[in-house]
Amino acid sequence: MDLEIEGNAALVTASSSGLGKASAIALARDGANVVVNGRDEDRLADAVEEVEGEATGEVVGVEGDLTDSDDTERLVERTVEEFGGLDHLVTSAGGPPSGPFLETNDEDWYDAYDLLVMSVVRLVREATPHLRDGDGGTVVTITSRSVKESIDALVLSNSVRMSVIGLEKTLSKELAPEVRANAVLPGAHETARIRELVEQGVERGDYESYEAGVSERGQANPLGRIGDPMELGNTAAFLSSPKSGYINGESVVVDGGQSAGNL
Ligand SMILES: NC(=O)c1ccc[n+]([C@@H]2O[C@H](COP(=O)([O-])OP(=O)(O)OC[C@H]3O[C@@H](n4cnc5c(N)ncnc54)[C@H](OP(=O)(O)O)[C@@H]3O)[C@@H](O)[C@H]2O)c1
Repeated sequence: MDLEIEGNAALVTASSSGLGKASAIALARDGANVVVNGRDEDRLADAVEEVEGEATGEVVGVEGDLTDSDDTERLVERTVEEFGGLDHLVTSAGGPPSGPFLETNDEDWYDAYDLLVMSVVRLVREATPHLRDGDGGTVVTITSRSVKESIDALVLSNSVRMSVIGLEKTLSKELAPEVRANAVLPGAHETARIRELVEQGVERGDYESYEAGVSERGQANPLGRIGDPMELGNTAAFLSSPKSGYINGESVVVDGGQSAGNL
């Protein structure tokens, strides 16, 4: 399917690895010009090279920390400078630490809010005039299936990410009709984040080994495996495309059917 985004300008945050990178690749494969972002210079340079290898348009790396308001402002400015506008904003971020409620302190909660919610607030505020200027602006927010079903030992993700869904639903009304806003809710996909969570689970004694943890997570899924990051990235690109033009304000779960809710 041609996503009809050739020549459009896209900013994908936290895209030097994992789900953000997969989304950048999916957009770049269909001809969008893409800004790739992360904090670590070397990881970012590697990701830019990888995305470029799949791209027909331009790919630019912009370093920046999503918890820094100056950096988020600069990310949007640089995208507009490089590509002459901004059509598609895809927000990813790092993940909050895992662990039970009683092991979290105030700082953990504020940090999680800053990383997961305020980064999106600031990016969308900065990006909106540009998204409205174009022909079919979109915001896609990568969150987690934890907003549908709470996940054990992820109290910060289970709680804080709900705000992003409220924000996205509000944006889908307030920014329409020029801009559509949707969220994607990944289940487990094989990225550095999942490696980190499984390794923390091994340390807590939840799993015997890393391999056992990955296998257990896969077996708990109706499809018998954890996801390939591109399966999430392709969904983010589809939601950015005019081919999904009547989908607005939705939270699309990409978890192989793991969540048990009927809706
Ligand atoms: N993978 C999964 O199965 C899964 C499932 C549900 C939800 N999620 C959520 O989806 C999001 C992405 O996960 P992932 O699996 O793609 O993780 P990942 O592979 O670890 O990638 C995280 C990316 O975010 C960047 N990053 C982290 N903190 C940042 C910051 N403050 N500013 C800018 N960039 C930052 C990292 O680069 P630098 O460190 O160099 O900055 C890296 O590029 C996370 O919120 C995660 O919790 C993931």
